[in-house]
Amino acid sequence: MSPLKSVTALVALVASTLAIPVPSPEPLSEPQHLHKLFTRQDVQSPINGSLPNVTIFATGGTIASQGSSNTQTVGYSIGLGVQQIVDAVPEILNISNIAGYQVSNVGSGSINETILLELNSLITAELEKDDIAGVIITHGTDTLEETAFFMDLTIDSPKPVICVGAMRPATALSADGPLNLLQAVTLAASPNALGRGTMITLNDRIGSAFYTTKNNANSLDTFYSTEAGQLGFFINQVPYFYYEPAKPIGLTHFDLAGMTTLPQIDILYAHQDMDALLFNSSVQNGAEGIVYAGVGAGGMSSKASVAAEAVYNETGIPMVASHRSADGFVPADDGDYIIASGFFNPQKARILLQLAVASGFGESEIRGVFAESYPSPGGGMRRK
Ligand SMILES: *[C@@H]1O[C@H](CO)[C@@H](O)[C@H](O)[C@H]1NC(C)=O
Ligand SMILES: *[C@@H]1O[C@H](CO)[C@@H](O)[C@H](O)[C@H]1NC(C)=O
Ligand SMILES: *[C@@H]1O[C@H](CO)[C@@H](O)[C@H](O)[C@H]1NC(C)=O
Ligand SMILES: *[C@@H]1O[C@H](CO)[C@@H](O)[C@H](O)[C@H]1NC(C)=O
Ligand SMILES: *[C@@H]1O[C@H](CO)[C@@H](O)[C@H](O)[C@H]1NC(C)=O
Ligand SMILES: *[C@@H]1O[C@H](CO)[C@@H](O)[C@H](O)[C@H]1NC(C)=O
Repeated sequence: MSPLKSVTALVALVASTLAIPVPSPEPLSEPQHLHKLFTRQDVQSPINGSLPNVTIFATGGTIASQGSSNTQTVGYSIGLGVQQIVDAVPEILNISNIAGYQVSNVGSGSINETILLELNSLITAELEKDDIAGVIITHGTDTLEETAFFMDLTIDSPKPVICVGAMRPATALSADGPLNLLQAVTLAASPNALGRGTMITLNDRIGSAFYTTKNNANSLDTFYSTEAGQLGFFINQVPYFYYEPAKPIGLTHFDLAGMTTLPQIDILYAHQDMDALLFNSSVQNGAEGIVYAGVGAGGMSSKASVAAEAVYNETGIPMVASHRSADGFVPADDGDYIIASGFFNPQKARILLQLAVASGFGESEIRGVFAESYPSPGGGMRRK
């Protein structure tokens, strides 16, 4: 592939990432796993050796999708590429030398175990290079928090891993992708970002991947943590942090070396008169663990509760109670077979359970990794 062609391919890659993930059932192109699409020279020649180096891992979504008009913000289609994005934000090249990979090109609802494991191994290798300051994952926003949390739990490096997306297509009036990308590159290249784990940045906010969630399906101001707060904020495109570098309590590190699959973990949604057979169906369909989004602080209907316990008695698969409320805490109940998610919402509890099951943890170890995130006299803090 000539450098020019690879740039074009690259463009198709990043182009797709930053805006609202339109439900897009089909991948846009053949996945090009482990294919480095462009190098720093492709984007900028010559490399400015005094600038930090940042690598972008694009996964799909719609960083630079196009609507049919500048007022269309729903139902647009993916189309632009990385080169167009970089062209649109030439300021990026004054901050960093950029290289990029296309790991996948899917809407974020279709991010799967293959993509997560590949991202993990590529990023781990990239961050081991002395001349790399940090990395960026461009991603559809709908499940961005899940990929970010996964990376926080599986990448063991002080260097920044920055997850970024956009809520509006590139063609929209006041598109947010270009500034979000500029801020992500600034953050990935910043020495002040070291030692803070994986971060999510959109709309000027910098949040820890651990607790940041998508709060609104449509609005720009959607990524934040109501209770745990933010790590920092951009003022005039400079990242300012509120605290010294710190890790959240209960950040267990999982080593994925050699792992090629992840177990199926289902999320069941509780509601009035919740169906008793959802648990049976999950297990019959291969689930190796179940998280349910409980009513209140982890509750469900009495008939579902009996069914869940019967399934647990027979299979022993781990079951984690989370909450369907946007925020909240599910406390551990001594002696209960159900594992409490603590502060984790269902989608984050699912990632943590998936990694624990993948690591071969038994029930008490799984209980431990959840309990460590909310240390109390009866809770965790077992690990130093
Ligand atoms: C390289 O980057 C440095 C630091 O930002 C800047 O001062 C210098 O002008 C750049 N050199 C070129 C050739 O752009
Ligand atoms: C960026 O990469 C180039 C080429 O590998 C290297 O010469 C340069 O030193 C790197 N910059 C930093 C700040 O490490
Ligand atoms: C990049 O930096 C140079 C030197 O400071 C400046 O002249 C130029 O306008 C900058 N380019 C952009 C796009 O900000
Ligand atoms: C995950 O998605 C990618 C991209 O669509 C696909 O190539 C891969 O086969 C999928 N993996 C699994 C296990 O389905
Ligand atoms: C599950 O097993 C426990 C302990 O043996 C028992 O007390 C409980 O009644 C069982 N529950 C169901 C629904 O079978
Ligand atoms: C649901 O699963 C439990 C435990 O395996 C079993 O006892 C029960 O009969 C199942 N219910 C149905 C309708 O299959």
